[in-house]
Amino acid sequence: MRKLILGALVPRAINELEPGLVNLVRRLLEGMAEKQARGETVDLIADLASAIPVEIIGNLLNVPHADRGPLRGWSLKILGALEPAISAAQLSAADIAVREFLDFLEMLVAERKRRPGDPQADVLTRLIQGEVDGERLSHKELLQNCIFILNAGHETTTNLIGNCLVTLARWPGEREKIIANPSLARSAIEEVLRFESSNQLGNRIATADTEIGGIAMPKGTQFTLCIGAANRDPDVFADPHVFRIDRSPNRHLAFATGIHQCAGMHLARLEGRVVTARLGVAHASP
Ligand code: HEM
Repeated sequence: MRKLILGALVPRAINELEPGLVNLVRRLLEGMAEKQARGETVDLIADLASAIPVEIIGNLLNVPHADRGPLRGWSLKILGALEPAISAAQLSAADIAVREFLDFLEMLVAERKRRPGDPQADVLTRLIQGEVDGERLSHKELLQNCIFILNAGHETTTNLIGNCLVTLARWPGEREKIIANPSLARSAIEEVLRFESSNQLGNRIATADTEIGGIAMPKGTQFTLCIGAANRDPDVFADPHVFRIDRSPNRHLAFATGIHQCAGMHLARLEGRVVTARLGVAHASP
């Protein structure tokens, strides 16, 4: 599955998205300026930070524009259920969101099977047609992976962009540096990923008896990895609580590491970098 997904997200394929992304960010910023001129309230998350990934992931899976409205709400409800402690109401809202999402995907997949897209560009067609080691995804795997990709690519990137703006507003000296030198956007995004990691926590189950940091973990132990804490580890990062957009080296774990490292990291980095470089960060004051 990872091979099928990764094929559509390799750096070469992602770089081709850059001109469209630059245009999208320009259009969204113009739309915000027009709203402001009409005296309407501008919401940085709704109008910019979440609008970008919804558009990009929607395009990758070729979801019709008219159907994209509920995607973010479903994502938020499903991801909310992954918090370490949740209420019965949150759990049931997530269940309903999964069911609605699946109904929607059943229709989308049926339509794509009738009319396949370009397998180079359309991730859904890749997942439907693709074979790895002679095997295709089962129908259930296909639907679950669509939900996974849509969720993985939405909220994390929305938070990256939102966190970037808030953090630059809180660290005006760093903001000035970027305004003076937009080419710092690349390393600034790495520092935002470290300093305010979109994914603070990750869940694991020990598949064999093991020991971590001197603590015994019998097979079946459920535990939470604290990515946010690892990224402020004073043994790895000098002055870990200082936000420094030109930090180097910056070996953060925001995209995890190992065989399940984030498959969408090149895309997420591109989205973050384009916004940071373009926004005339001066507008991001609180
Ligand atoms: C700032 C944005 C993002 C962050 C911080 C992030 C973070 C992560 C992390 C920490 C993991 C590992 C999860 C685990 O092993 O438990 C992961 C996996 C994954 N991410 Fe992302 N992600 C981001 C954006 C994206 C985007 C834009 C996509 C797709 C378009 C994506 C697709 C995936 C996929 C498919 C995996 C699973 C990889 C595997 O299990 O082999 N992510 N991501």
